Amino acid sequence: MSGFSADWLALREPHDTCARNPAVLNAVVASQAGNTSIRIVDLACGTGSTLRALAPRFSTGQNWRLTDNDLSLLARASATTRPQGVSVTAVPLDLNLDLEAALDGPIDLVTTSALLDLVSADWLDRLAIETVARSIPIYAALSYDGRIEISPPHTYDETIIAAVNAHQRGDKGFGPALGPMAASAAIARFESLGYSIVHGPADWVIGPYDREFQMEILAGWASAAREFGSMSLADMVGWLTCRRDDVAAGRSAIRVGHVDIFARPTGTRRAVRSQSNNISSSS
Ligand SMILES: C[S@@+](CC[C@H](N)C(=O)[O-])C[C@H]1O[C@@H](n2cnc3c(N)ncnc32)[C@H](O)[C@@H]1O
Repeated sequence: MSGFSADWLALREPHDTCARNPAVLNAVVASQAGNTSIRIVDLACGTGSTLRALAPRFSTGQNWRLTDNDLSLLARASATTRPQGVSVTAVPLDLNLDLEAALDGPIDLVTTSALLDLVSADWLDRLAIETVARSIPIYAALSYDGRIEISPPHTYDETIIAAVNAHQRGDKGFGPALGPMAASAAIARFESLGYSIVHGPADWVIGPYDREFQMEILAGWASAAREFGSMSLADMVGWLTCRRDDVAAGRSAIRVGHVDIFARPTGTRRAVRSQSNNISSSS
């Protein structure tokens, strides 16, 4: 399964749903209280997991603009069964080139999930400037933060995890990725622009009976280790074989650290001017 395949996104979605931080979700929902209709832009929507997670939590009408550069994922996202009063517009966009176009027009909330760890510091800066300039709150869920715990332990775990984290820093189409630094970089950037932040852990806690998900994750980590690590092929195969035996025997558990963030205007920040759209913030 590739990193963004519909099959992989379907496999991870139930774990993402359980992992989403409830305090952050509550803050997102509370921020829209009083709006009779909410205009939401979801960046890199995949098959629409953020829409499915968030739409039922609002008790009001919503218009979602779903953006992604993968037409097949976008088509699946726009076909999602939605609560009454929720409409969807699918917009194919390369967010590396056209972030500003994604944020055109009146918007009450920007959402994204499992995106920030793919982007570069420069792109995160663009996102922060463009949202702050428009005074839009942003909910960025499920950024991988570098923490991996695997049980039972294996001698090569540390080497594999280091390779996974090095792989996470590679270019995913937005320049050198922030990878495990994404959440802390986003918190620091939005705070520096005067936003207030609610954030919290959103870890995958994968139990012994989630065998298929564990097998996929381990295969992905082994291939990252081949690409970025210093292990011999024999050691890597030995690690993967041992790990797969543990999964098959129902004695393997994995925790993968993620962070959810909700950043919103405080009303007291300095005005920030968008370079590309010339929109000034309220202060
Ligand atoms: C890890 S998936 C997350 C998908 C979805 N948000 C979720 O949580 O299931 C990353 C998504 O980013 C999209 N993506 C990657 N690079 C992109 C780009 N340059 N422009 C727009 N979307 C992009 C992929 O197509 C994929 O849907």
